[in-house]
Amino acid sequence: MFFVILHKKIMALIAPSILSADFGNLNRDIDMINDSEADWFHIDIMDGVFVPNISFGFPVLEAVNKKATKIKDTHLMIVNPDQYIETFKKLGTDYLTVHYEACPHLHRTIQAIKNTGIKAGVALNPHTNVHLLDDVIRDLDLVLIMSVNPGFGGQKFIENTYEKITKTKNLIIQKNSSALIEVDGGVNPENAKKLSDAGVDVLVAGSTVFNAEDPSQMIKDLKAKTKNF
Ligand code: DX5
Ligand code: ZN
Repeated sequence: MFFVILHKKIMALIAPSILSADFGNLNRDIDMINDSEADWFHIDIMDGVFVPNISFGFPVLEAVNKKATKIKDTHLMIVNPDQYIETFKKLGTDYLTVHYEACPHLHRTIQAIKNTGIKAGVALNPHTNVHLLDDVIRDLDLVLIMSVNPGFGGQKFIENTYEKITKTKNLIIQKNSSALIEVDGGVNPENAKKLSDAGVDVLVAGSTVFNAEDPSQMIKDLKAKTKNF
């Protein structure tokens, strides 16, 4: 009897971005994600320097992390992230992603994250070539491909992203890396399947989820779009 081992995922993970949540009703929105089919919490930290927007800081992050019962995936859009790695660890972060463009000593930063036991991710802006990760891809747990320019929710998906996903997937296979591919920005029910088919493991969705009439149902719908059977 022969067994064929399929390395294909069954469906993508869904990571609602709380940037688009109602901050006046944050507990309610976190509970919605806790009770939904979502897999991760996507948490955007912006400093007003690396990106032209400020999201929220540690007191809010602490409250979110305490209440969230799923994987906490934190996307840092900040300069000098190294100085805060220990704090993110203390607050219960599971995945910590830094921007390639914000880290002149990226290898050091990745090692510092991993040394705390947090999973390490690197995010690439739309203009940043995937092959710049050639020499660190084996060290990574996650590659975050920005499908909009970082800083704001609700922007239009950049079509060149599909090509970038293919390049990332090929690099991961070629280098025998176990990094997951995450796509962030402009994800919706129309592009979720194509993204998943292209090789995305984690779909971030902010405005699509929180602007929906029924956010929990939208999470379910997005996930169902990516089913591979
Ligand atoms: C943008 C953030 C995203 C944002 C996505 O800089 O990194 O996580 O919340 O929002 P949508 O899904 O609305 O494009
Ligand atoms: Zn993000």
